[in-house]
Amino acid sequence: MKKGKFITFEGGDGSGKTTQLQRIVAWLKEQDIDVLQTFEPGDTPLGKEIRRLLLSGEHTPVPAAELLLFLADRAQHVEEVIKPALAAGKWVICDRYTDSTLAYQLAGRQLKDTKTLRDMLVWAEQGLTPDKTIWLDLSVEDAAKRMASREAEGEAANRLDNEKIVFHKAVHQAFFEIQQSALQRVERIDARQNIAQVQADIQAVLKRL
Ligand code: TYD
Repeated sequence: MKKGKFITFEGGDGSGKTTQLQRIVAWLKEQDIDVLQTFEPGDTPLGKEIRRLLLSGEHTPVPAAELLLFLADRAQHVEEVIKPALAAGKWVICDRYTDSTLAYQLAGRQLKDTKTLRDMLVWAEQGLTPDKTIWLDLSVEDAAKRMASREAEGEAANRLDNEKIVFHKAVHQAFFEIQQSALQRVERIDARQNIAQVQADIQAVLKRL
């Protein structure tokens, strides 16, 4: 069924992920590749509601509820958006996917990492693993500096951005471990480099696809 390529972007807040994603989509389009850019959570009509519940700060879900809401968003997104686009031969570039759930919910929220939870994460994917994952690696300290200057410019932080430093450290460590356990799939990119160099590194990875 799957014909296109499925590429996910991961990284902590402040890693430059949004900028890099936009640039890579533009670059792929220049190569005449049919691209669909999407994100999690929230890129379906149902997901938009789930995103609001998760991130607005109006509610504080318990860790188990938070995990289940992210998985609900993902299941809907995979069936409604990602699979149809791949079947049509498109390259799907997705801002965050299951690795974010592993990092933010299992590690950040310290949910016990059991086989049941791992199975649930795989089940929510509905059989769809990324062909490639780009992890923009930036230390928590460097990320905090960037976030502070953004907030000074008036950019709003979401409920998870506002978590304490220990939370973000656990998230960063989890991304590191994910990469170590999936070296074929996950490419670590040094996000301290300038925008053009990061972009060049990502392009080099995608050229190999
Ligand atoms: P968003 O505003 O989309 O921006 P960014 O990806 O640039 O941080 O924020 C989405 C938030 O949701 C982000 O703080 C990470 C979090 N998240 C999880 O905690 N678990 C998940 O499974 C996903 C997909 C995202």
